[in-house]
Order: sequence, then C-alpha cells, then structure tokens
Amino acid sequence: MEPANAPNIIDGNRIAEAILNEVREEVATIEGRKPGVVFIRVGEDPASRSYVLKKKKVSQSVGIESEVFVYPKNITRDELLANVDAFNKNPSVDGILVQSPMPGHLDESEIFNAIDPLKDVDGFHRINSGKLFQEDEDGFVPCTPLGVVEMLKRSGIATSGKHVVVIGRSLIVGKPLAMLLSRKHEWGNATVTICHSRSSDLASITRTADILIAAIGRPEFVKASMVKPGATVIDVGINRVADAEAPKGYRLTGDVAFDEVAPLCKHITPVPGGVGPMTVAMLMSNTLKAYRLRSASEI
Ligand code: GUN
Repeated sequence: MEPANAPNIIDGNRIAEAILNEVREEVATIEGRKPGVVFIRVGEDPASRSYVLKKKKVSQSVGIESEVFVYPKNITRDELLANVDAFNKNPSVDGILVQSPMPGHLDESEIFNAIDPLKDVDGFHRINSGKLFQEDEDGFVPCTPLGVVEMLKRSGIATSGKHVVVIGRSLIVGKPLAMLLSRKHEWGNATVTICHSRSSDLASITRTADILIAAIGRPEFVKASMVKPGATVIDVGINRVADAEAPKGYRLTGDVAFDEVAPLCKHITPVPGGVGPMTVAMLMSNTLKAYRLRSASEI
C-alpha cells in the first residue's frame, strides 16, 4: 500500500509529449518550406553528443528539418563566428543552437551574442535576455526555464504569491527562471529568491520555499533537511555519476537526493523523465515560433 503522503511525481515525458503533439499538428499544416533548425556542437563532450542527438531525433519526429554540425574542439573563434554568420544569412534556417559547454578558448557569451536574435531559439542572446527582463513576449526564452514553467502550469501548480527558491544563477537556467516566475503573469507573480554556491546558510533559505528548484549541477545536493514538508521540488540537474554496475558505466542523477526528499514533497520531478524532456519540447516550440516570426516578417 502506498503511504498516505505519497508524492505526486510529475511526469515530464507525458507533458512534453503533449507539447510535441501540438507542435507536430501545427507543423503539419504548414505548406511549402518547413521550419528548420541547426545544432552546432564543438568537440566531443559525451553528454553534449547525447543531448544534440536527442534534439535531432525529436525535431524529426515533429516534422522540423534539422542538421547537426560538429566542429573540432580546436576550431578558432573566427572560424566558428564565420559559420554562425553563414547560418544567420541562410534563409532556410529558422533556429540556431550552439550547444554548451564549449571548449575553454571560446567565449560562450560572444558566440551566443553572434546568433541572429530572431534565430536564437536558445534565448541566450542579450536582446532576448533584455526582452525577458522587459516582459516583451516577442523574444525567445531559454528552453529549460520555459519548460519548468510550462510543467508547473500543465500540472496545475500555482506560482502566484508563492515563495520560489531557485538554487543556481546560470544564464541557461537560474537567472531566466527567476525573471519568468517573478513577472506579472498568471504563471509568474511569485516571490523569488536566487541562491548559489556562495549563499550562507542555504538550508535555512531553501526550507522556506513553497517551490524549490535545484539547478546547480551537483549530484544529490538537495537533502531532506533542506526541504519544507509539502513543498514542490523541481530537479533541473542531470549529472552523470560513475557506476561500474550500470550498463554504460555511469548512472544519471539529479541535483536532488530523490529517495529521501520525495516522501516529504507534494510534487516532485524525477531524473530522468522530469525537466529534461521539457527542455527539448520547448526547443521545438521556440523553433516553430522563430519560423512564424520570420515568415511574418517576409510578407
Ligand atoms: N547545455 C545545457 N543546456 C543547454 C541548452 O539549453 N542550450 C544549449 N545551447 N546548451 C545547453
């Protein structure tokens, strides 16, 4: 028998599939050129290889054209920028994504800011960060934060008036998520606290969260003692932890110690099968948005 307080495990695969079905249906109605996205990977980071492959497969499954470009890890800044520029000018490319992390000699921020903001399906360009800041819905919002909010919305977990604590201040997740959740919006209106590796007495802050979001990239960092009973916990982390007994020699674990935290929670996301599929679904949704924006500007 399940314990009376069994947590509601949010099924990211199911929610992502619903979004992908909506994208697929809309793409099917497009006559002529279909939306197209390019994925750029620099070097052979194993996690990036698998993420980019997944993005390509999902694009195919919804009818979005995609191509992966892999450059050697020693590609120069100028060569990479020249490639990005060529994709910026290519009319059949609606979306450009350069997978992070990039090798250390490349300045990620410079590369992200070189992408045409209208093709910036990752939402990392400073123009799109500014639009998010200004609550201008024309811009692109980074896929993982967008996926987290969509997941809360489609699970009926209200954010208005709640205290949301985000652990992590990255450009990819923490900062844009805080912007989204604090905006004047039915699925915003939260009181948001951003914590990070230098926050003092982190547990005393996280224990006040109605919704706790872990995005720090440290396996099983969030323990039961850091969570308020009845909270919702969203785990953005996907960490590869060495495990000689696992088929691939590693297992995937989130930023949350799931087994000890889950019994305390009202809702919790698993890893894998939580936020991960939502990120890819929102990338498809952003690519369709880029296609629509660019088609409208051609008229
Ligand atoms: N690395 C981890 N997440 C992301 C993402 O959403 N976009 C890109 N470009 N790189 C990532």
